[in-house]
Amino acid sequence: MKKEIALPDYNVELGPIGTTLAQYLAQHTYSKICVLVDEHTKLHCIPLIEEVLSGALLIEIKSGEHQKTLDSCRHIWSSMVDGKMDRHSLMINLGGGVIGDMGGYAASCYMRGIDFIQIPTTLLSQVDASVGGKLAIDFMGYKNFIGLFANPSAVLVDPSFLETLSHRELRSGYAEMIKHGLIQNKEIWDRLLGLGDWRKMDWYEEIYQSIKVKKEVVTIDPKESGLRKILNFGHTIGHAIESIALTTNQPLQHGEAIGFGMMAEAHLSVTKNGLPLEKAESILNYLKKIYTDAIIGLMRSDKKNKGGEILFALLDGIGSSTYDVTATDQEIEECLRMTHKWM
Ligand SMILES: NC(=O)c1ccc[n+]([C@@H]2O[C@H](COP(=O)([O-])OP(=O)(O)OC[C@H]3O[C@@H](n4cnc5c(N)ncnc54)[C@H](O)[C@@H]3O)[C@@H](O)[C@H]2O)c1
Ligand SMILES: [Zn+2]
Repeated sequence: MKKEIALPDYNVELGPIGTTLAQYLAQHTYSKICVLVDEHTKLHCIPLIEEVLSGALLIEIKSGEHQKTLDSCRHIWSSMVDGKMDRHSLMINLGGGVIGDMGGYAASCYMRGIDFIQIPTTLLSQVDASVGGKLAIDFMGYKNFIGLFANPSAVLVDPSFLETLSHRELRSGYAEMIKHGLIQNKEIWDRLLGLGDWRKMDWYEEIYQSIKVKKEVVTIDPKESGLRKILNFGHTIGHAIESIALTTNQPLQHGEAIGFGMMAEAHLSVTKNGLPLEKAESILNYLKKIYTDAIIGLMRSDKKNKGGEILFALLDGIGSSTYDVTATDQEIEECLRMTHKWM
């Protein structure tokens, strides 16, 4: 099984990574190869490619968004210099969006730019971050503040990397697949909606269809001067929710925040943009089913709670209230469901 999506300057190859990587390397000659990993992709993802990649230099950074910094780039660049990488070398970014964004940026600056390929290993990076040429690091607390547009030589996607990903990470990436359906491709949305349990989807086919949406958008508008902005559906409100959650001890995953952002912006689409109400309701119902427990998790981390119990101040009459009332997850879910009905 192998599928290809052609962009103007490079291809996305979907298939078993051993085969697609071996093919890429057979068609190119490099003086040296390095692989950028974090501790998770070193453990779970390197085993899938090491047979094809003997003798490559391994460069490791710690996992997480807070490592997407200039300090990590300094570590990457000094490892490349120590490893005698030159202008004819290749960098392979093996990981999620953090590794892809930062590794691509580091490769594009090293000696004014060397070849790099993206091997995205999270769902979010497979359907979203690895395609479209946006590369960046965070700076002085600002996300993606220093960066550039540069295309990889190839993007190699293999859904089997997802087998070691946590449910939460997988669900986070799934929000972007839902988004791709909603903004551009009704068939994707209808298929996902019809699945029952989304985890039972045909990953290979759906990832392919999802990447195709992103490809079509970024090909028409590579630098976000117009159409590419549709990829921000759910992100205006979603980013605000994400920032607020960051101040608690249970930050939301990007996709969880975008899930709520899409619920809110589906409502706004009704009032501002002519989306029929029943369509917005089906979007809300679906997203709520998947992302409600993330809201409950966020409530549980509220400083006002005690011992993991969620505490409410509630009314028992007009002008009369009590405090420290606990509620079960089921009761909270029911109240969110009712609120949505009233809205
Ligand atoms: N360039 C773009 O167009 C674009 C688009 C969207 C997001 N992004 C960026 O992507 C980043 C988020 O990416 P992400 O969600 O992939 O997060 P991430 O890169 O932090 O990965 C999430 C976690 O999963 C682990 N992991 C990765 N692959 C694994 C595997 N196969 N098995 C087990 N664990 C694995 C990682 O080590 C990490 O702990 C953000 O920095 C965001 O700004 C960029
Ligand atoms: Zn996003």
